[in-house]
Amino acid sequence: MHISPLSYVQSEEIASLHKSAVSDTSSYLGKKYVTRLYQLLLSHPKQHISFGAFEKGHLIGVIIATTHIRNTQKAMHTLFTFRSLPTLFFRFLTGGITPKKVVKRLLFERKIQALLGNNTAAIVVLFVDPTHVRTGVGKALVHSVIVKFKKAQAKFVYVDVSSDNDEGLSFFEHIGFIKLFEYFGGTLLRYSLTQKKRTNQE
Ligand SMILES: CC(C)(COP(=O)(O)OP(=O)(O)OC[C@H]1O[C@@H](n2cnc3c(N)ncnc32)[C@H](O)[C@@H]1OP(=O)(O)O)[C@@H](O)C(=O)NCCC(=O)NCCS
Repeated sequence: MHISPLSYVQSEEIASLHKSAVSDTSSYLGKKYVTRLYQLLLSHPKQHISFGAFEKGHLIGVIIATTHIRNTQKAMHTLFTFRSLPTLFFRFLTGGITPKKVVKRLLFERKIQALLGNNTAAIVVLFVDPTHVRTGVGKALVHSVIVKFKKAQAKFVYVDVSSDNDEGLSFFEHIGFIKLFEYFGGTLLRYSLTQKKRTNQE
């Protein structure tokens, strides 16, 4: 496996892997929306740190982190336009997404935005091809981001995980993230970049 930075032109490939690896709200919104999400994140390389893990030339894992969580979340909200409404409504009807889920997510985001300054480093997306999980890919991707943030002299890196995502929570806790709080179905975790004991790979 090798790890290298991702670029805008890989947005569609990333979106395909996202759809097979993640069953979150964004996946339910369809490939077009997910592709636009990655085009957005990868078109701001100064603010977003991104790495892909590759095995024999195939993308098997993705991580994207931001140096400014508030700006990133605001930018992600702009992806929802009037044109998204029919899809959203259809997903409400078919049960993929519920209005309650959307409201809970917005409340959670409001809470973390109030708590964290804009100048806050955070992991925005992380996923690994289901056929390659538990082989150290996720850990290696987080490690790459941690190295970058340390160079930039950040003190902490945050991540929010759905409180019902047991595998995601176990993963982040295993590599040294600490749970800060749970609120409306979301859990915020933090990793200290100045701590002595770091991820197992360091
Ligand atoms: C969470 C995820 C990124 C982990 O990636 P991964 O490549 O499988 O993780 P690693 O192999 O590097 O695991 C490192 C350690 O984390 C812990 N861990 C990882 N997955 C776990 C799981 N499903 N259950 C319990 N512990 C787990 C283990 O301790 C593991 O070490 P071990 O395999 O030696 O026991 C992957 O399962 C995934 O893509 N999930 C779907 C998307 C997601 O939930 N993303 C996180 C929220 S942003």
